[in-house]
Parts: sequence; structure tokens; C-alpha cells
Amino acid sequence: MVSLKEHNTFGIEAGCKRFVEYTTADKLASVLREMRGEEPTPVFHIGAGSNLVFTADYPGTILHSAIKTCEIVEETPDGHVLLRVGSGYVWDELVQWTLSNGLYGLENLSLIPGEVGASAVQNVGAYGKEAGQFIVRVEALAAADGSLRTFTHDECHYAYRSSVFKHALRGQYYITHVTYRLSQHFTPDLSYRALSGEVARRALDLAQLSASDVRNLVCELRRSKLPEPCEVGSAGSFFMNPVVPAEKAQALAKAYPDMPHFDAEGGVKIPAAWLIEQAGWKGKRLGQAGVWPKQALVLVNYGGATGQDILSLSQQIQADVRAQFGIALHPEAIFVP
Ligand code: EPU
Repeated sequence: MVSLKEHNTFGIEAGCKRFVEYTTADKLASVLREMRGEEPTPVFHIGAGSNLVFTADYPGTILHSAIKTCEIVEETPDGHVLLRVGSGYVWDELVQWTLSNGLYGLENLSLIPGEVGASAVQNVGAYGKEAGQFIVRVEALAAADGSLRTFTHDECHYAYRSSVFKHALRGQYYITHVTYRLSQHFTPDLSYRALSGEVARRALDLAQLSASDVRNLVCELRRSKLPEPCEVGSAGSFFMNPVVPAEKAQALAKAYPDMPHFDAEGGVKIPAAWLIEQAGWKGKRLGQAGVWPKQALVLVNYGGATGQDILSLSQQIQADVRAQFGIALHPEAIFVP
């Protein structure tokens, strides 16, 4: 067994039969060709493992992209740039690179763990922005026959933490490159309340605000709430924020007048962190697995927790939130196998 401990941010001790890293799309194609000639085994492709819970050893091959290219492929007359990036590029290094090269848009997505390939599967998001809104195309190899396919933005079906790669085509394509459309002109997006609140609290001059200032603010906000990945294992937000029908939200708001809620597509979004905190789980521990004291949406491994410990903790939280509020919480994290 090859250890996967360094390949999941929860730091869960699990193994796999074979671990294969590739540096180009051609190398991935030849790995897939070789595997077709062998006895079939399960295959799973990971990114940085920042959204995974290994609940047992993986009985097959784990693939990982180490394609780390980054090239400007087009400059448009309206002041935009198309940037084609390898799926193994570390997300936050990309954000840094874009800002140092005068390309804007990704600053609100600073410090999100993970890699470029996963940004296109998971549609990572924070502080009012989602990766999918910058993605113009995704290049991927078909798992079945190694053929290359380019998906347009529309074919990716981006929605809240969701894409065609996560659902309809799950496991069927391995992403090699993602092309983002970024602006050469910086316009701050402070629509997310926590961010505008911080700008106001510090009495910052909006006219002087640079993209690096926004990045620094986002980094500070994240560091104040989320555990440092090198110190405490976690997968960031463990659950997605549920969207409930308007009538349901109204009834709950009567019973809980302080309940935060936001209009969203399809209903009203209620922060999962608030529901978990109300259900009494914030800061609680079950053995080595626990709920982060500064942000109830984050489950953590205090050292030595297994994937089963995390699974069991998450199920108990789901049961309590369902019993108290009649709301089902859905994990953002993915259980493997
Ligand atoms: N809240 C609580 N208790 C807590 C924390 C938050 O009641 O312990 C309530 C507060 O009322 C707060 C509301 O929840 O106003 C929302 O909290 P926050 O703004 O911190 O955002 P979130 O909904 O908890 C989402 C993303 C994060 C992203 C932040 C900032 C999801 C699942 N999570 O969290 O993404 O960083 O917004 O934009 O949508 C991630 O996906 O790994 C992640 C960290």
C-alpha cells in the first residue's frame, strides 16, 4: 500500500494499491493505455485532497496531475486575457501569479486550498466569487479511451459547488488544463458582507484599494476562522449551505428571529454553520474528530482520526440538525471509496 496521508488535507492515514502522478496530457494518455491492458482495477483521480475523506484503503489506482504549466493564450481587445493553466498548478499560487502579473478577478478566492483541476470540478467559491465564472474552457481526457475533449463554459454546468464533472460525468474525465478569462483592469467586488464590513471597520479608502489589499483582507479573514492546514487537518467547509423553500425559511425565522438567511436561487440559503452551532456542535469533539471552535462548518482531525471517525461525526451532526430544524445537510466533502 502507498500512503495517502500526504495527499489529503484531513491527514487521514489511508493507503492505495498504486499512486500515479503525470506531468503532461500525453503521459496520462499512456498511463491509461497501459491500464487498459491490465486487469481492471478501480481508478480515482485526486487533486490536493482538500475535499476528500478516505474512509478505508483505496483498492486500486489513484491518479494525480502534476501538470503545472501556465501560459497566456490570448489577449482580447476589451482588456481581458485568457490564461491556460495545468490542472496540477496549486490554486493559491495561481491567484498570486495572476495578481503579480496584473491580471484580476481571482483575488477574492485567495488561500482556497487545492489545485486548478479541482477548481473546475468543485467550482470552488468564497467571498462572493466562484471559480466557474472565470472558466472559459476545460480540457480533459476520457477515462474510457483516453480521447481528448474540450468543454466550453456552458458544457461545464456550473452551480454552487457543482459541475458536470462532479455529477453527470463523475469519474469519466480527467482534467488536464483549465482556461480562465481574467481582466487587466481591477474592480473590487466587496458584495460579500464579511468583506465589505471589514473594509468599513478599517475605514479603508475604496478608491485606493488594490487587488493585493483585497487578497490580504481575504487571507486574514480566512486565517481568523479556518484552521491552518499544516497544523490541524480539515477539508475546509465540510457541508454545503442548504437552500430551503421560502415558506420553510419564514416558519424557521419566526421560531429563530436571529437566524441569518440569504435569498438564493431556488429559495433561501441558511448558513449550515449557524444550524450546526444551534444544534450544539460548535467546538465539540468525538475522540480525535471534532467541530472547529471558530467555524462550525469545519470538521477537523485533531490527530489520528480515521475517515470512519469523520463520517460518524458528520452523520451525528446531520441527524441532530435534521431533528431540530427538519433540514438535510449535504457534505461538500467526498467520501472515498
Ligand atoms: N455562522 C455561525 N456560526 C459559525 C460560523 C458562521 O452561525 O460558527 C453564520 C454567521 O451568521 C455567518 C454565516 O454563518 O454570517 C456565514 O458564515 P461565513 O460568511 O463564514 O460563510 P460560510 O457560509 O460559513 C462559505 C463557504 C466558505 C467560504 C465562506 C466565505 C460554503 C460551504 N462555504 O462559508 O468556503 O470561505 O463562505 O465566502 O459555501 C470551503 O468551501 O471550504 C469554504 C471555506
